[in-house]
Amino acid sequence: MSNIQDKVVIITGASSGIGEATAKELAAKGAKLVLAARREDRLEKLQQDIQNTGGPVIYKVIDVTSYEQMEELAEMALKEFGKIDVLVNNAGVMPHSFLYKKKIDDWNKMIDVNIKGVLYGIAAVLPTMREQKSGHIINLSSVAGHVVGPGSTVYAGTKHAVRAISEGLRKEEAGNNIRSTIISPGAVQSELINLITDTDLKPGIDKLYEDVAIEANSISRAIAFAIEQPYDVAINEMIIRPTSQER
Ligand SMILES: NC(=O)c1ccc[n+]([C@@H]2O[C@H](COP(=O)([O-])OP(=O)(O)OC[C@H]3O[C@@H](n4cnc5c(N)ncnc54)[C@H](OP(=O)(O)O)[C@@H]3O)[C@@H](O)[C@H]2O)c1
Repeated sequence: MSNIQDKVVIITGASSGIGEATAKELAAKGAKLVLAARREDRLEKLQQDIQNTGGPVIYKVIDVTSYEQMEELAEMALKEFGKIDVLVNNAGVMPHSFLYKKKIDDWNKMIDVNIKGVLYGIAAVLPTMREQKSGHIINLSSVAGHVVGPGSTVYAGTKHAVRAISEGLRKEEAGNNIRSTIISPGAVQSELINLITDTDLKPGIDKLYEDVAIEANSISRAIAFAIEQPYDVAINEMIIRPTSQER
C-alpha cells in the first residue's frame, strides 16, 4: 500500500499548474484531498475529475492572504477527515519587474501571497500537527529562492524567505515529528508567467518557458516522493530544473 493512501492533504493554489497536478498525483495514490484557491469553477471541475476516479476530495474558495480564511480551511479539513497529515503551501504569484518600474502593488502581492500566505498556512495547521505528534509541511520556493536575477528581485526575496521560514520550521518542529520540505522548481508550464506586465521582461521570459519549461507533473512527482517516505525520513529540500535550464 502507498504511504500516501488515506493521508489528508491540504493543497493551496490547487486551481492550476503545480497545485492541480499535485492534486491529481496524490488522488491517484489514495490521498484524501482538501483543495483551495480563489477560482471556484476550476476547483469544482478538478473535484469532479478526481471524484470520477473515486478519491475523496473537498474544496474551499479562499484567499491565502487572509489568515481567517486559511484557518477556516484547516477547520474544514479536520471536520471532514478528522486529521491533517500534509499541507502543500503552493499558492504563489510571480509578476516579475525591474525595481525602477516601481510596481509597488505587484511587490505587495508577492509579499502577501508568497510569504504571508505560507506563514498563515503553517499557523493554521501547526497546532493540529503538534497535537497529533505528526505532520508534514511542504513549501514551494523556487530556483529564485537560490539565485537572484535582474527583474526577479522581489519574487526572489519572497522565495528566499520561504526557504528561511521552512528551515526555521524544520528546526523548531523536528522534536514534534513534523517534517518540512522545500520544493524549488525551475521553469514549469503553468499560468505563473501570465501575471508579468513588465514589457521589457515578458518576451524573454516567454521565450525561456517556451524553450525549456517542463510539465507540472515533474514537480508533483517530487512532492509525492517526499510524502511517501517513511515517517522517520524527511526530504528537506529538492531543486527540480528542466535539464536544459542553465540559470
Ligand atoms: N511555474 C514555475 O515555473 C515555477 C517555478 C518556481 C516556483 N513556482 C512556484 O510554484 C507555485 C505554484 O505555481 P504554478 O507554477 O503552478 O502557477 P499557477 O498556475 O499560476 O498557480 C498558482 C496558484 O496559486 C493560486 N493563488 C494565487 N494567489 C492566490 C491567493 N491570493 N489565494 C489563494 N490562491 C492563490 C492560484 O489560484 P487562484 O488564482 O484560483 O486563486 C493558482 O492555483 C508557486 O508558489 C510558484 O511561485 C513555480
